[in-house]
Amino acid sequence: MDNGFFISIEGPDGAGKSTQIDLLKKHLKEKGYDVLETREPGGTPISEKIRQIILDKGNSEMASMTEALLYAASRAQLVAEVIKPALSQGKVVICDRYVDSSIAYQGYGRGLGESISVINDYAVDTCIPNLTLLFKLPPEIGSRRIDEKSKDRLESEKMKFHQDVYRGYLEIEKKFPDRVVGIDAAGSIEEIANRIADVVDGRLAKFEL
Ligand code: TYD
Repeated sequence: MDNGFFISIEGPDGAGKSTQIDLLKKHLKEKGYDVLETREPGGTPISEKIRQIILDKGNSEMASMTEALLYAASRAQLVAEVIKPALSQGKVVICDRYVDSSIAYQGYGRGLGESISVINDYAVDTCIPNLTLLFKLPPEIGSRRIDEKSKDRLESEKMKFHQDVYRGYLEIEKKFPDRVVGIDAAGSIEEIANRIADVVDGRLAKFEL
């Protein structure tokens, strides 16, 4: 289906993903790769509209399954409109969150379990990352890094929810050891960036892009 390289970035809220994505993008561009960065939920005009519905704090009555289906709908559009075309053009795609976020947040956090994998098999349509970087930082620390007032509907959830999400991520890491690489997100920005560059460079060298 493709000859590009697909990297997803995962982890709890407040783990510092955005800063590191910017640095990784710069690193890969300097090495001459054609890089496309995108994010979830969002990344296309339709998906950004869905994002607003999902994260709106006013939508407190949203059922967990509605939430899961909206994330999957946003993802299906992103895969069709952005990710698949970019991969077929040989690009390196960096996606800020992908299907593992749904497994962790909706599957473990909301307790929807296996249904999330089933729904998302349709949404991703065989488009699975070549590499997933999992930012590892206990949710107690991540949550403290986010300003209370700026928290969206998901970030405002109770600590128990975020602990369940984190447990989910650790299970995913165990279940897919070839695809998922844990990154200790507790060091300095530079330390973490170097760790990430080493992992990505190593994988890309083997991949022959
Ligand atoms: P994100 O855009 O990473 O938040 P921010 O930019 O504020 O750091 O993600 C928004 C929230 O959506 C985040 O709390 C994680 C959650 N989320 C899910 O619950 N399921 C999903 O499938 C995805 C992609 C995100």
